[in-house]
Amino acid sequence: MNSNIIKALGKPPVYTKTTGEFWNDEHISKQMLKAHLNPEFDGASRRLDFIEKSVAWIKELVPHLQYSNLLDVGCGPGIYAEKFVQMGYHVTGIDFSKRSIDYARQSAISKGLEISYLYQDYLEMDLKEKFDFATMIYCDYGALSTKDRQVILSKIHHHLKPGGKLLLDVFSMIKFEHFQERQTWEICNDGGFWREDEYVALSGYYKYLDNVTLDQILVISKYETAIYYIWNTYFTKETLTNEVQNMGFKVCEVFSDVAGDVYRPESETIAILLERK
Ligand SMILES: C[S@@+](CC[C@H](N)C(=O)[O-])C[C@H]1O[C@@H](n2cnc3c(N)ncnc32)[C@H](O)[C@@H]1O
Repeated sequence: MNSNIIKALGKPPVYTKTTGEFWNDEHISKQMLKAHLNPEFDGASRRLDFIEKSVAWIKELVPHLQYSNLLDVGCGPGIYAEKFVQMGYHVTGIDFSKRSIDYARQSAISKGLEISYLYQDYLEMDLKEKFDFATMIYCDYGALSTKDRQVILSKIHHHLKPGGKLLLDVFSMIKFEHFQERQTWEICNDGGFWREDEYVALSGYYKYLDNVTLDQILVISKYETAIYYIWNTYFTKETLTNEVQNMGFKVCEVFSDVAGDVYRPESETIAILLERK
């Protein structure tokens, strides 16, 4: 048992995937949904005041009268999707967190909003419809491996009409530079984010080559041991631009964030508006 734990705590090869459930774990998905819905917390979705600023800006940048059919990739519980539909877009949201999609569907029904929600892995999406506009918001793109980033760009490319737009954001090299390698541990006697009951979490935060980081969390409870890997790839304006141009997109404009702040190299995020060639 101890030697298994020591082995599990070693630094894994870059982009090793978590084998167990994360987004659909009964307890963790509940905590994630709570985080998404907390208007003051930007752990899962951005704070509500930012989201409001963001959708108001997006509406001006990619107007619904011209770009009516919108695909929200990794829509979570539909916080953006609801605001987009209220602004006049026809919205389809796709996400593989069952709890988020169930919440989003219920919330849309209770507000009388017509939104099509799909519970699906976006890396495997194969929809009948073509869209005018796609959004992938809150740095989910950089959470994917190099190969999966190619997959999602080609999936989105396939699902956009020629001339269709894609807006996405990533973390910048400034955030990478601020990332501190460290190892920590935490005892949660009454449960916490990772488990409902008592557990210990041993966490390692590591930098890899090519501007990649890993948050590695080993959770030890009374019943089992599980390991979670959260990867992030960070970009400069140039690395992001090169990557997306190689996948059939033209860069329209680069910003500091998805609320339209002008591009500044010192910003922790970069947002990019692309057009399908
Ligand atoms: C950081 S959250 C952002 C949610 C939303 N865009 C927002 O800003 O409120 C990322 C979302 O992507 C979803 N996601 C991650 N990988 C996915 C995949 N392969 N297929 C579908 N959804 C995925 C997660 O379930 C989560 O809801």
